[in-house]
Amino acid sequence: MPILSLTEAELRARRSMKWRAFAPDILPLWVAEMDVALHPAVREVLREAADRGDTGYPHGRAYAEAFAAMAAEVWGLQLDGPRQIKQSGDVMNGILAVLSTTTAPGDRVVINPPVYPPFRQVTGGYDRQIVEVPLTEAGRLDLPALTEVLATRPAAYLLCSPHNPTGAVHTRAELETVATTCHEYGVQLVVDEIHARIVDPGVRFTSALDVPGGEHAVVVTSAGKAWNLPAFKAGLIIGGLQTSDILAKLPPLALQAMGHWASMAHTAAMREAQDWVDQVSAEIAANKVLLAELLASTLPGARYQPGEGTYLAWVDCTALGLPHPAHDFREVGRVAFSPGRDFSAAHSQWVRINLACSPTLLTEAVDRMVATVEAVGA
Ligand SMILES: Cc1ncc(COP(=O)(O)O)c(C=O)c1O
Repeated sequence: MPILSLTEAELRARRSMKWRAFAPDILPLWVAEMDVALHPAVREVLREAADRGDTGYPHGRAYAEAFAAMAAEVWGLQLDGPRQIKQSGDVMNGILAVLSTTTAPGDRVVINPPVYPPFRQVTGGYDRQIVEVPLTEAGRLDLPALTEVLATRPAAYLLCSPHNPTGAVHTRAELETVATTCHEYGVQLVVDEIHARIVDPGVRFTSALDVPGGEHAVVVTSAGKAWNLPAFKAGLIIGGLQTSDILAKLPPLALQAMGHWASMAHTAAMREAQDWVDQVSAEIAANKVLLAELLASTLPGARYQPGEGTYLAWVDCTALGLPHPAHDFREVGRVAFSPGRDFSAAHSQWVRINLACSPTLLTEAVDRMVATVEAVGA
């Protein structure tokens, strides 16, 4: 039985943002929630906690240990858990904690647009100056441009790996260049690896902690995306072996922000749902092929180059002749995608499509794109 097989009727009962933000006739393929049922192991752990009335504070380091075991088994990454891994609240607040420890107001922080919109909030929103080094046309890191900017010694570089929205899985060689260059110029490398467990079958994810220079990097991650647990705010701040001074200075409240149920849910996912995440990754890879085929046959003006990671598709709608693609798709075709301009001012003609849905819903979404273009397009 496919994991991505929930029907629209089943999903409409949900009360989360994806399913409630828009009118009920709008098909939502926008915010990064997955159309999956809870993994049975996660459901069981939560059900048992509910039965016990077990709603107190979290205790222990089970989440950090479960992550370290997963990282060793899946990526061959050996972490010194107690020394390197701190349990925290969600990923963005973990990044905020690291940036507030390693940078000061007015400092420059590098990001790579188009990029997950809260990367601007966690930097510019806290009085850091944003330095943009855009991805290349092909959606990859622009290493020559990055090297040039890093040589001017900004305070930090906030990297998304794999990249949201393009789905680029940075190679070991790219990460090594980034990590060693950051170290050479004293730039603090902070890497968001929340999407790491969703990569196409056969594709290898490399953690920034696993390359030369990575001893000085700090990674922030969680089970929130790959196992669809954003309802449960938990995260991990993982320092390279040379970052003990940073980890020691993290704001104390950031290390108390994880909830007890969140810890239990994320731990169960890490421990018991690895096969599940492999299966869902394969289904997402199939959805990427399906989307590419559907667009090629029914909407050839839409340009889509599938990334190897994440369940996100980054689609260039420039040639469709729509004045405001995301708005037009939503208001005319009744299908919601994330607007490209949220990720970069230069990408207002792009949309991000959430592929963590059934092939049936994805096909319906493309039908609605076609109807939009027929009604509005040039
Ligand atoms: C790259 C990236 N980082 C962080 C998050 C959010 O994580 P959290 O809710 O743990 O802050 C998302 C959610 O889509 C994401 O795509």
